[in-house]
Amino acid sequence: MQTRAFGSTGLNVTPLGFGAMHLNDQRVSEADAGRLLNQVLDLGVNLIDTARGYGLSEERIGRHLAHRRHEFVLSTKVGYGIAGVPDWTYACIVAGVEAALARMRCDYLDIVHLHSCPLPVLEQGEVIAALEDCARAGKLRVVAYSGDNAELDWSIACGRFGAVQTSINLCDQQSIPQRLKQLQANGLGVIAKRPLAGAVWHSNQRPDSYCEAHYWDRWKTMDLDPQGLSWNELALRFCAYLPGVASCIVGTSKIDHFKHNLMTLTQGPLDAALQQRIQDTFVRHDDGWVGLI
Ligand SMILES: NC(=O)c1ccc[n+]([C@@H]2O[C@H](COP(=O)([O-])OP(=O)(O)OC[C@H]3O[C@@H](n4cnc5c(N)ncnc54)[C@H](OP(=O)(O)O)[C@@H]3O)[C@@H](O)[C@H]2O)c1
Repeated sequence: MQTRAFGSTGLNVTPLGFGAMHLNDQRVSEADAGRLLNQVLDLGVNLIDTARGYGLSEERIGRHLAHRRHEFVLSTKVGYGIAGVPDWTYACIVAGVEAALARMRCDYLDIVHLHSCPLPVLEQGEVIAALEDCARAGKLRVVAYSGDNAELDWSIACGRFGAVQTSINLCDQQSIPQRLKQLQANGLGVIAKRPLAGAVWHSNQRPDSYCEAHYWDRWKTMDLDPQGLSWNELALRFCAYLPGVASCIVGTSKIDHFKHNLMTLTQGPLDAALQQRIQDTFVRHDDGWVGLI
C-alpha cells in the first residue's frame, strides 16, 4: 500500500490504519488478536493506533508485534490511569509514556497523543511540556493531541503539536474543510478516528452507547442517498481522500472486515459531486452538532 506524508513529521503512513480499540478484552481471543495484528501488517498497512484506555490492546500489541516493531508506525494515547499519580499532570504523562513502552515492549513510540485532554489542562501547558521532554529523550517521535472542538482548535493554534487525531466521518464533519485546511497549512499530521461513524447502519435500532447513538440520529436525519454504494464504502471513501487526512483508523475485530476496507479504498475517492453533496447535507442539517470524542 502506498504511504502518505504524515504532515511534516517525517513519518509516512498508509491511508488505512488499524484502530486497535476493539482488542480491549477477551471477546477477541488472544490467538485471534495475534493473528489480526500480524495480518494487518502482512497486508501492507503500517499504522496501528491504541491507547492506555483500551484495556488489553497495548499489551497485545507488545506481545504479538514487538518483533516487527520496525515495520509500523505506533500511535498511542496517555494522560490518565497511572496508579498513585494524579491524571493530567507532568508526572502522569511521563509515567504513561514509560508504561506504554513497557507494555508494548519497545524502546520508542512514534505518535503519542494527549487523550481527550481538557482545555484548562492544555492551557496550563505542563502536560505538553512532559511529552516534549519525552520526545527530547528519544522516547517518542511526534507530540500529538487527540480530541475535538475547542480543545482541537487550541491544539492547532498553540503550535506545539506535530499531529492530531480527531473524529471525521459522514456524521461528524466539524473539521471539514476549514480545520483540515489549517492543519495542512500548519504541517500537522491528521489521523481520522471513527471513520465509519461506528458503522451504525449495521444496527437494527438506535445504539446504546453515547457517540454511536448520536451518529445514528445524525445519519437518520441526513437521509443521504448512497448512490448504490454500501454505507461502509461511502463512508470510507468519503473520509480517506479528504485533503489533509493522512490516515483513517477503522476499528474492527475481524480480519475479513479489515481486508474488505482495504479493497474498498482501492476504488479511490468518491465522485466529486457526491463528496460535495455529503458535505452540503451535513451543513444543512447541522443543528449544533459537535465533534464526538
Ligand atoms: N482518540 C479517541 O478518543 C478515540 C475515540 C474513538 C475511537 N478512536 C480510534 O478510532 C478507531 C476507530 O473507532 P471506532 O472503532 O469507534 O469506529 P469506526 O472505525 O468508525 O467503526 C468501527 C465499527 O465498524 C465495524 N466495521 C469495521 N469494518 C467493517 C466492515 N468492513 N464491515 C462491517 N462492519 C465493519 C466494526 O465492527 P467489527 O468489529 O464487526 O468489524 C466496528 O463496530 C478506534 O479503534 C481507535 O483507535 C479514538
